[in-house]
Amino acid sequence: MGKIEVFERVEKVVYMTQPSPVVLVSTINNLGMENLAPFAMFMNCSSKPFMVAIAISPKTDTYKNIKETKEFIIGIPKEDMLDKLYKCGEKVDNNISEFKIANLTSYKSNKVKCMRIMECVVNIDCIFVQEVETGNHNIIIGKVVSCDIDEEIYSTDKVLLRGNIPNIYHITGNKFMVNGKFRDIGIIDQG
Ligand SMILES: Cc1cc2nc3c(=O)[nH]c(=O)nc-3n(C[C@H](O)[C@H](O)[C@H](O)COP(=O)(O)O)c2cc1C
Repeated sequence: MGKIEVFERVEKVVYMTQPSPVVLVSTINNLGMENLAPFAMFMNCSSKPFMVAIAISPKTDTYKNIKETKEFIIGIPKEDMLDKLYKCGEKVDNNISEFKIANLTSYKSNKVKCMRIMECVVNIDCIFVQEVETGNHNIIIGKVVSCDIDEEIYSTDKVLLRGNIPNIYHITGNKFMVNGKFRDIGIIDQG
């Protein structure tokens, strides 16, 4: 599937995803082990330079990896990968890659060592710049260093572009709102 580098337009692309869709965050640890996890508490927090923020529990591998390697990638998932996204949120040993578990495809970024997610329509490469301690989640702020988007959904027309960006919001447990409709992904809600 074709991708277009849109770093010079990244703030426009990502602004179109507000308010806070669920994202998949890709990281690696110092040994090069890949990790993927879903995060709902995501936002862009500066347009010049372009910065993003995610509230992440310090208990997660994602948090530890970002602190170790100082980089991460944010993927905007498609509606048809909800089950895979949810699977990436299950606790697994940190020597097993969620790319494998959820059968997702990785590909390289030119700017960071962690891997982009082919099935995501947008991949945003970030360098860690700051952490703000909050409560059970800390805000991790990243500077965006590159970004791509699926060719087939990209448009210079902001209205068309927004229309093409998936709208996946997390409600609770296995319950999501997708394009304005509630969707239960069929796994028993423990929450
Ligand atoms: C849809 C969804 C959204 C989530 N959002 C967040 C979030 O914003 N912050 C957070 O710390 N955990 C969030 N979680 C929980 C993490 O994804 C979960 O703890 C995961 O196991 C972390 O994986 P890791 O240890 O491989 O980093 C979310 C889970 C799901 C299913």
